[in-house]
Amino acid sequence: MKSILVTGGCGFIGSHTVLALLQAGFNVCVIDNLYNSSYESLKRVQKLAGKKTDFHQIDLRDKEKLKSLFDQSRFDAVVHFAGLKAVGESMEKPLLYYSNNVYGTINLCEVMKGAGVFDIVFSSSATVYGNPERSPISEDQRLGAVNPYGQTKLIIEEMLRDLHRSDPQWNTALLRYFNPVGAHKSGEIGEDPNGIPNNLMPFVSQVAVGKLDELKVFGNDYPTRDGTGIRDYIHVSDLANGHLKALKKLAENPGIVTYNLGTGKGATVLEVIHAFEQASNVKIPYKIAPRRPGDAAVTYADSAKAEKELGWKAERDLETMCRDAWNWQSKNPQGYDS
Ligand code: WQD
Repeated sequence: MKSILVTGGCGFIGSHTVLALLQAGFNVCVIDNLYNSSYESLKRVQKLAGKKTDFHQIDLRDKEKLKSLFDQSRFDAVVHFAGLKAVGESMEKPLLYYSNNVYGTINLCEVMKGAGVFDIVFSSSATVYGNPERSPISEDQRLGAVNPYGQTKLIIEEMLRDLHRSDPQWNTALLRYFNPVGAHKSGEIGEDPNGIPNNLMPFVSQVAVGKLDELKVFGNDYPTRDGTGIRDYIHVSDLANGHLKALKKLAENPGIVTYNLGTGKGATVLEVIHAFEQASNVKIPYKIAPRRPGDAAVTYADSAKAEKELGWKAERDLETMCRDAWNWQSKNPQGYDS
């Protein structure tokens, strides 16, 4: 039975991946510093899976604590989600992001190497493409982060590429997520951002449930079909499945592999609003506001490589994403605090 360590396993994508791993028969150990997540998510994951996981509250910057975990447990691979991910916060607190995301990953890799664990799936992001030259975006497109958060993802990717070059024992899957949204179909786990959401879907969802009054649409003068920004929204459960496929790929000793995880379809902000209104049967009040600095007009994935090499393809459409997001939010108006 394969034993997987999941860092950041109490987070949005982490919790959904832990559930998928348990349901696929893996043994799972979760570590999380709970800075930006709730242990309640893992309690619900275990209930849904009908299986237990180990849990240790560990911050990756605490190398001693991390090392003692590897001394007492044997892992076949690591799925590494732990990291801060708010673009705006990263602009205000860059050192926190470099310390938490980059230094934390250095510790993790050093402890893994010491324990003879060389298989890692890394939670990267489409943000490493910066303002993309064109869409659909393929993995060989120019990289260039435009904020400290994106910079940390890019640095970690470069670090993992160098690590593999220095020691081919490493098997590394870099997964570049586009816009993760939605929730497990049960509505028991979902996205629970701290404070006012930066991202569109949780913001819309909180307007629908009455937690927020009105959505600001950041710009309707983009060169798109309705003037609002286009993004590649991908269901978090499809994303979770992508991690299982990546783990399977690592078992073939592929060295270092990189995949875009997106649907390959773009949706505008107004299309998301309308889809959410359909799903929730709630009118979403919004007003047009100025563009948000740093936003690209159009970003969506070319995920043909993941389909060809992983046998993975996103299956859920925007309507399902909105329906599942609303199911979670309406059942948990205060998120896990509910
Ligand atoms: C989507 C669209 C906005 C909020 C970010 C990170 C990226 C990744 C996913 C981690 C854009 C518009 C948004 C609002 C709006 N995160 N919008 N009103 O910016 O594509 O990507 O999240 O890896 O790294 O950059 O996602 O949801 O913030 O924005 O009009 O209140 O919705 O302009 O067009 P984004 P987003």
